[in-house]
Amino acid sequence: MEWTRAARYRAYDQYSALELMKLQAQATASPAQLHYHIRPQSGLLNDPNGFSYFNGEWTVFYQSFPFGAAHGLKSWVRLSSPDLVHWTNHGVAVLPDSDFDSHGAYSGSAHEVDGKLFLMYTGNHRDADWTRTPYQLGAWLDQDGRVTKLAQPLIDQPETVTEHFRDPQLFFHGDRWYALLGAQRATDQRGEMLLYSAPAVTGPWTAVGPIKLPLADLGYMVECPNLISVDGVPTFVFCPQGLPQAAASYQNIYPNMYLQGKDFDYQAATLEGAGELTNLDEGFDVYASQTFNAPDGTAYLISWVGLPDMAYPTDEQNWANCLSQVKELHQVDGQLVQQPVAAMTSLRQEEHRFAGEVETITPDGGQQLELAVTIAANQQGTLYLAASVDRKQSVQLRFDTAAGELVIDRATSGPQPTPDHGTTRTLKLPAKADLKLRLFLDHSLAEVFVNDGRQVATFRYFTSQENTALAFDRPTTASGSWWQLADQNQ
Ligand code: FRU
Repeated sequence: MEWTRAARYRAYDQYSALELMKLQAQATASPAQLHYHIRPQSGLLNDPNGFSYFNGEWTVFYQSFPFGAAHGLKSWVRLSSPDLVHWTNHGVAVLPDSDFDSHGAYSGSAHEVDGKLFLMYTGNHRDADWTRTPYQLGAWLDQDGRVTKLAQPLIDQPETVTEHFRDPQLFFHGDRWYALLGAQRATDQRGEMLLYSAPAVTGPWTAVGPIKLPLADLGYMVECPNLISVDGVPTFVFCPQGLPQAAASYQNIYPNMYLQGKDFDYQAATLEGAGELTNLDEGFDVYASQTFNAPDGTAYLISWVGLPDMAYPTDEQNWANCLSQVKELHQVDGQLVQQPVAAMTSLRQEEHRFAGEVETITPDGGQQLELAVTIAANQQGTLYLAASVDRKQSVQLRFDTAAGELVIDRATSGPQPTPDHGTTRTLKLPAKADLKLRLFLDHSLAEVFVNDGRQVATFRYFTSQENTALAFDRPTTASGSWWQLADQNQ
């Protein structure tokens, strides 16, 4: 079907329950469907929103267009979890049903305040002539899951920015609330982040100013900005669309980067002692990541696995995308590392160990598994994931633990997402060193944690579910374990 503007913005109540049920059944029956990640019940999922701790549970929402694989009229769907791994889906929470969010309840964040969850998000409003006005809106989620929107916007578009002004991240610091927003400057159409503060979440919100970073140019728009503390280190996680390659190289259509500093001055909105702008994820498909500091201070991260302006093979089955697993962020040897949360091991089934000169790890491990492997230093070879019997179809991880390189190649895995942005990604590794991988497959999603999370590569692949071998291309000195993984609820 053709996704005309009228089709994308058709009101939710114009669809019948039967249409929605058919789409849900189609998504559930898809061979590529995820079994232990957050996935859309139907239609398209994009950014994680409102990632928070509320009422003794972890909460996350996602941007949803439930009626097809298109970026149409967006709402928020809510999930909660006791352990960041097993999620219960509570259905749609924020509908685009007010004048301020008439063309989409866009991305935002959440924070517990006095026994309720406060949501701060962008209302996407368009006039009859399709002129856009972004409003930063507030809503309360109570303990029974009811959402009550505030009657008036919290922050209006300032004159200094264009219509691209969205994705507030709400957090508390010292004795004030802060909201960090992505924006495009009006004067030169370049990207920036804006900081606001308020004595209470409901306002009054006043501008602190643009975030000052030692970077010449942030592209033409910053989406989904976050500021968190990772073991005390101030860390920005954000999506600078159109970032010049000179600032940091990346291959995806739009980058998701992080930048750490020594200190953040809240009054001056300045990051002091900034390090290097770095790719958050070395794979093909991470965007719009959201992070927050839990009540105990630990920083957690979850990402949209999917990118704007990309087509994916499941589009023709009327659904698209998923969220990554949640990662815990830490500072190790002065570097940001991303690790699976502890409860991920609760999905493990029987353990299968291997060691020595290994060739086939398993001929039929399925595509819902975890592999932990150490490949000894000074070897070259290929590790095939989701491989066919003749190994002609697979995701290839080509390693060189002498020179220190890992190439991820999805070209031979089957139908490709929009291929304009390459079919390989190359990771630099320490030379002449063992390579440690912890790797998760979920039917069409791979998450590869390299050397205890010093690098992570997340990507989709779309292969026949009959391709279930896990093997090296030659005898390789390696040891480790693999486990099939259980479904999580949802
Ligand atoms: C990022 C984004 C956000 C926006 C949302 C709309 O993927 O474009 O900037 O709020 O998606 O769904």
